[in-house]
Amino acid sequence: MSRSTRKIDHINHALKTGQSRFHGFDDVTFVHNSIPESKVEAISLSSIIGELHLSSPIFINAMTGGGGEKTEQINREFAEVAAETGVAMAVGSQMSAIRDVEQRRSYQIVRKANPSGVVFANLGSEATVEQAKQAVDMLEANAMQIHLNIIQELVMPEGDRDFSNTLTRIESIVRHLDVPVVVKEVGFGMSKETVDRLASVGVSIVDIGGYGGTNFSKIENERRERRLSVFEDWGISTTCSILEACSVQKDVEVIASGGIQSSLDLAKALALGAKAGGFAGHFLRILTNQGQEALIKEIETMHMELRYILAAVQADNPLELMNVPIVLSGQTYHWASQRGID
Ligand code: FNR
Repeated sequence: MSRSTRKIDHINHALKTGQSRFHGFDDVTFVHNSIPESKVEAISLSSIIGELHLSSPIFINAMTGGGGEKTEQINREFAEVAAETGVAMAVGSQMSAIRDVEQRRSYQIVRKANPSGVVFANLGSEATVEQAKQAVDMLEANAMQIHLNIIQELVMPEGDRDFSNTLTRIESIVRHLDVPVVVKEVGFGMSKETVDRLASVGVSIVDIGGYGGTNFSKIENERRERRLSVFEDWGISTTCSILEACSVQKDVEVIASGGIQSSLDLAKALALGAKAGGFAGHFLRILTNQGQEALIKEIETMHMELRYILAAVQADNPLELMNVPIVLSGQTYHWASQRGID
């Protein structure tokens, strides 16, 4: 099966299997404040992650690219939405374009459509330093995402079966790239042990890519002749993953993703300690079913709602959300207690 056919399969199955709601955001409640000393117009939505300055904590997470008109159109449309709304955007894995020059156009279009925006390059953890440099150059990217997708590979019929030396490769990429490196999961979450190991080789930004939204075990199973069901409910929920990652006592910044579908989900992710939140499946569904204008409207509405939420809890910017009181319940509370995270 060619890589471009696989990418179209992923899009179609992601739209079909949809987003589950096991991300844990229902376990997080803001403690209402009846006398916040705040002004909506004084609130800024900008966020800082290491060297990256974002005008919004919302970003379009890695999805697609590669050969074929459909992936190129999706990337162009997402890039135009990003340019219009000022949000950052990551492209999908660029490995196919590194191996085949013909496929570069569908990625380069992202920079062309959004010349001054924040754009993330993307490769899997099998990438070499040379390939990572090429991926960044292809897009004049502001940052590099390296994805970890072990469960997806195992369920993918044609997936990798050798995961050795991953950490060593990531360490080399972090050392030799001129842009910040974000190590991300794709919907199975990260534990504090994983984040600690990443931090120990110099990784300073992780996107925990938690369980509870797009489910790549289910997506890959749609592409298998015989189902491999053991991983269908596998992973650390998004809320638990954020808590895990933020508990690591090292210099590492946390980005949230996995099932984020609203301004309130995102505000809760920020209150748990994340600095920004990635949207993949939710935005893909709006773009595909309702079009670009609807997605622009959705992002603008979320920006307005975020300002109102910040005003209600007396936070002047998204980073202050991590200081406002919240209460945890349900699975997130029990997970945090058992894992010794407070
Ligand atoms: C993805 N995702 C992804 N991630 C990555 O790092 N490289 C990639 O090439 C892709 N490809 C991809 C295709 C499609 C169709 C989807 C829906 C997703 C994973 C994505 O960035 C994100 O981590 C997960 O989808 C979880 O977030 P959501 O979808 O629950 O918001």
